[in-house]
Amino acid sequence: TIKIIMDTDPGIDDAAAITMAINDSNIDLKLITTVAGNVTVDKTTKNALKLVRFFNADVPVAAGAKQPLIKPFEDAARIHGESGMPGYDFPEDLPKPLEKSAVEALRDEIMANDKITLVPTGSYTNIALLFSEYPEVKDHIERIVAMGGSLGKGNMTSAAEFNVFTDPHAARIVYNSGIPIVMVGLDITMKALLTHESIEKLPTLNETGKMLHDIIIHDGDNSDQGIAMHDVNTIFYLLHPEAITTEDMWVDVQTEGPAMGETVGDIRGAYHDGKINTSVCVDIDAAAFNKWFIDEVSHISK
Ligand code: BDR
Ligand code: CA
Repeated sequence: TIKIIMDTDPGIDDAAAITMAINDSNIDLKLITTVAGNVTVDKTTKNALKLVRFFNADVPVAAGAKQPLIKPFEDAARIHGESGMPGYDFPEDLPKPLEKSAVEALRDEIMANDKITLVPTGSYTNIALLFSEYPEVKDHIERIVAMGGSLGKGNMTSAAEFNVFTDPHAARIVYNSGIPIVMVGLDITMKALLTHESIEKLPTLNETGKMLHDIIIHDGDNSDQGIAMHDVNTIFYLLHPEAITTEDMWVDVQTEGPAMGETVGDIRGAYHDGKINTSVCVDIDAAAFNKWFIDEVSHISK
């Protein structure tokens, strides 16, 4: 099994990613930490707890950063709704988050493991804070499989993808941390849309499929071709790397000006002496992603 920690801002696609991570027996989800992003951290924490409760999962949740390191916080409620996870009535009797903060919980869980994979699907504020407070954790992290960034255009500004744009200074720290990164960015997530045919199948599968259907149809970023399930691509990569093409290169992050939040891939090997910090996901088998998504949900017992 692949031991992971998810650092997340649910969020519709985050909710689908958490659903897969909780329920796939090849993944051992040790901890969920939350961050401000799609909505405020109070809401993203509540949403993570709703999912843990829905599946009666034994996964602790710790609340993290209320705002980015430097940049003022701006949410994405126009895409993800006021609550961040609209459209389904979750049970109200929620478990409590851990008393310790996300950074403390990350430190304790990472240090308790020899090697673990971090899966950020929100902005990287908690992880940047963790690396500056407890740099010793770096030796215990195998890799960071992060949704965010784009070699092509952005979805927030012309240049920037939302998670990196939300906290570009944190992203810069993470990309320069020395830990191998897999960049699961818009280059693949905009290719692997969940088709309307797949979405219509979900409620016929089980209660989990109904829950995912009911929230996914509220996604404000919806096209005739389908709906991007950005964050779910991280879990798909962990389980099916053969369905994704990657290119190794140096990636750094712009923190200023009109390209603030852009992930710049050194595709010509021109500015970083041929050094590599990232495997960038550049292509994906979209049909395999759709088939896997449906299979994955259909195997959930609820
Ligand atoms: C990312 O932004 C968020 O709105 C989504 O949850 C995803 O993590 C896509 O750019
Ligand atoms: Ca997200």
